Amino acid sequence: MNNKKIKNKLEMEWSTLNEELKRHNYLYHSQDSPEISDFEYDEKINKLRHLEKLFPNFPNKESILNKVGFTPSSNFKKIKHNMKMLSLDNAFSEKDVSEFIIRIKRYLNLSKDDEIEFFSEPKIDGLSISLNYFDGNLFQSLTRGDGEYGEDVTENIKKVKDIPLKLSGSYPKEIEIRGEIFMEKSDFIKINEMNQAIGEKVFSNPRNAAAGSIRQKNSKITESRNLKFFAYAIGYSSERIASKQSTILERINGFGFRTNKHSIICKNLDELIRNFNQIKELRSNLEYDIDGLVHKVNEIILQERLGSISKSPRWAIAQKLPSDKVETKIIGIDVQVGRTGAITPVARLQQVTVGGVVVSNASLHNEDEIKRKDIRINDIVVLERAGDVIPHILEVSKSKRLSNSKPFIFPLSCPSCGSKLHKQDDDAIIRCSNTNFCNAQIVERIKHFISRDAMNIEGLGEKQIEVFFNKGILQKIPDIYNLYKIKEQLIKEKGYGEKSINNLLQSIENSKDSYLDKVIFGLGIRFVGKKTSRILALNFSSLYDLMNSIINEQIHENSLSEIDQIGEKSVRELYKFFRDNSNFKIVEELLTHVKPKQIEKPKIVGNVVGKKVVFTGTLEKISRSEAKNIAENKGAIVASSISKNIDYLIIGDKPGSKKKKAIELGIQIITENEWINLIND
Ligand code: IVH
Repeated sequence: MNNKKIKNKLEMEWSTLNEELKRHNYLYHSQDSPEISDFEYDEKINKLRHLEKLFPNFPNKESILNKVGFTPSSNFKKIKHNMKMLSLDNAFSEKDVSEFIIRIKRYLNLSKDDEIEFFSEPKIDGLSISLNYFDGNLFQSLTRGDGEYGEDVTENIKKVKDIPLKLSGSYPKEIEIRGEIFMEKSDFIKINEMNQAIGEKVFSNPRNAAAGSIRQKNSKITESRNLKFFAYAIGYSSERIASKQSTILERINGFGFRTNKHSIICKNLDELIRNFNQIKELRSNLEYDIDGLVHKVNEIILQERLGSISKSPRWAIAQKLPSDKVETKIIGIDVQVGRTGAITPVARLQQVTVGGVVVSNASLHNEDEIKRKDIRINDIVVLERAGDVIPHILEVSKSKRLSNSKPFIFPLSCPSCGSKLHKQDDDAIIRCSNTNFCNAQIVERIKHFISRDAMNIEGLGEKQIEVFFNKGILQKIPDIYNLYKIKEQLIKEKGYGEKSINNLLQSIENSKDSYLDKVIFGLGIRFVGKKTSRILALNFSSLYDLMNSIINEQIHENSLSEIDQIGEKSVRELYKFFRDNSNFKIVEELLTHVKPKQIEKPKIVGNVVGKKVVFTGTLEKISRSEAKNIAENKGAIVASSISKNIDYLIIGDKPGSKKKKAIELGIQIITENEWINLIND
């Protein structure tokens, strides 16, 4: 084919794909009824992006990559981030920071005396936001969400004055700016005073206030909240804008963003710690809350080499500032029953503010904790808030104890169903074991099922679930899916109108094709959290598949105990749950309404997927752990010893006996450079 023909063919391909994506966009955003999965959508978008790169004369106005914003909707759409939004590993001491530096040097094959430049920034206590610009125009803003998918809050973000709708200066065609939205302390106090006066929600801290102002649907409210924004990073960018974190921030500044002026370059541990101590002194005078410092490796090339481990990068650490402490009085101790029957004592406190948070309750965790700290009603206690952790009771101020105080006596029976409470040997927690009939447990399970990380059913508050339970409308999880039958009755309920009922019923309807992992998590099985649910959903095609495997104790390839990421405790609880007849029936009934979607297995493509490799000798370019990580990221399996099913032995300097054995077994031996070429091919 000549060049012209190739060009025509590519143009045709582009145009068909663009039209197809327009339709999917419409189905997803306007109709709430996508025909393809997010994964397939992303693949198509990437393909379109790739095709556009082949044309010199883009942008084309018709390209869907060029569209500014989506049809506004009443619900926040979940959208996949171009690049995952990670969180940070924490350092609580100087030693932790020192170890962080040692780890980095080891990983990069550097000696102890080599210096690495860091950029040290205040860690703003707000909510992270990703802002996507195309041709300098803000077209999409997402919350961090679960790191992989964020919520589309574009309309609200456009009302934050610190965020430019159009970038200034010279900017890449496509760029994602990341940073923190926050509320200044003075605005937080003002808004709370006003809300209290008019009986509206009072926020517990500036971070919640900022998040609440973004994660609600009226952009006029967002506008009235005077939110601020500091940019701290870039995500996806169509071109490299600078080679260091510090110079990236200068460029971002030039695009029209505020960056934090207390960020500085530090050359070693001493400088990092000196800066930390200075910021600590400055903290109370800042107009906004910070909960630590983020120390980042300054060179982007080094950041890229260091990469990340599961949820956080190796190249950055958050050094937490010390906590805030305050005294208050315990006015009572209540016990609560959780969905798995766990009995949790809760201290009711005289209201105080600690670290900018208004506190009136604190969990006491369990009976042992009360005994160990000897916590009694009417005691004066020291309350602590460390970073963004929930405030907790540090200790009792014993000198202030009343002379007639008596130790707290833990109840012997369940406050909800009256059955005898008990404790298992290996468990610090007292439980009500009346699993199927304890009302408090059932109500908590329903609350868990509809929660955001599970089925994400909106419009059914915790109080309403309790009311509906007491009225007999909601007695078990599947009853949620029959609520539509009593719509007229619901409209008359306190707190509901036709519109809110319609929204609730729509949200229930939408939940029917939730992903399998969300449904498994929603069942609220002990030791089956989000991660375990995801692993189960990756290994079983449906709930029936999982249940069959448990009920029939089939030892087939998907049998539970064969999945090595699932711990013994989870397996035990899964067996217990599904072998209980009443649970089984509930799940069966649930499945008459809900048709869980299978989750997509992550696909890796490349030359070394599934290949078994062994490294030996001293590698020259990268450290052994970096080499191992890169290999695994590319889908290879790294083994430590030579056997006949190994595909490649990669040799560095002074390879030793592994090389000899590989020759004997006829295994392909390649050099470090050949390996690098292979994986990058
Ligand atoms: S960098 C992969 N820099 O802290 C590293 N984060 O615990 C991404 N945060 O979700 C973050 N100030 O919301 C970075 N100067 C700063 C920050 C900062 C606040 C928040 C951010 C992130 C969280 C991680």
